[in-house]
Amino acid sequence: MIQPFEEVYEDIWRSLKESVKKKSHPFRYPTVATRHKEVVLQRMVVLRNLFISSRTLLFHTDKRSRKVLDIKEYPWISMLFYDPNRRIQLQLEGEATLHEVGSELHNDEWMDTTMPERLRYSRINSPGTPLDSTEEAQEGNTLDEARAKKNLVVVSLETELMDWLNLHPEGERRILFQWRENEWQKKPVSP
Ligand SMILES: Cc1cc2nc3c(=O)[nH]c(=O)nc-3n(C[C@H](O)[C@H](O)[C@H](O)COP(=O)(O)O)c2cc1C
Repeated sequence: MIQPFEEVYEDIWRSLKESVKKKSHPFRYPTVATRHKEVVLQRMVVLRNLFISSRTLLFHTDKRSRKVLDIKEYPWISMLFYDPNRRIQLQLEGEATLHEVGSELHNDEWMDTTMPERLRYSRINSPGTPLDSTEEAQEGNTLDEARAKKNLVVVSLETELMDWLNLHPEGERRILFQWRENEWQKKPVSP
């Protein structure tokens, strides 16, 4: 069934919220794009949390990763979500902020991290460090909670633009939501 225009906004945030809790939700693994010199780099992340009232989405990453350097240089990023069952594409844009160890948000998110995640951030080598073999990545990696906590950085995106596209068999629709003067302005646009 085609969704009424008025319900799309609620549906976007409901779907995002659901994806944080439900591992199988297609919105759980968005692509994050950052500007890196003259190119745009993209990679998948896990959507970890969101605060609807402040239009904020969170993901975790390694403080030493390239995307963190990109964000420091150019904090405007975009996130891309796709739900193949409903043929919905959602692009979000906004300013990213890095929350490092010591901040309240970092602490809250750290509490929610799983053991595999803590192990990942315990690695001595920074992401992208050249290795002699792929096996080397697994060797000697032991849990070091202090190091993991320091390497984990929480990235928040304060959404200012949402571009929603639904290639529904009964009618293709696209709606732009722009945060302007403290409210969302929505506009149907040609798909
Ligand atoms: C399914 C999946 C989930 C991922 N989730 C994350 C994540 O939540 N955070 C993260 O930093 N990298 C995650 N990655 C790895 C990134 O896609 C990327 O390879 C890595 O962060 C290095 O990116 P960078 O060099 O551009 O910073 C994930 C990869 C896959 C395949």
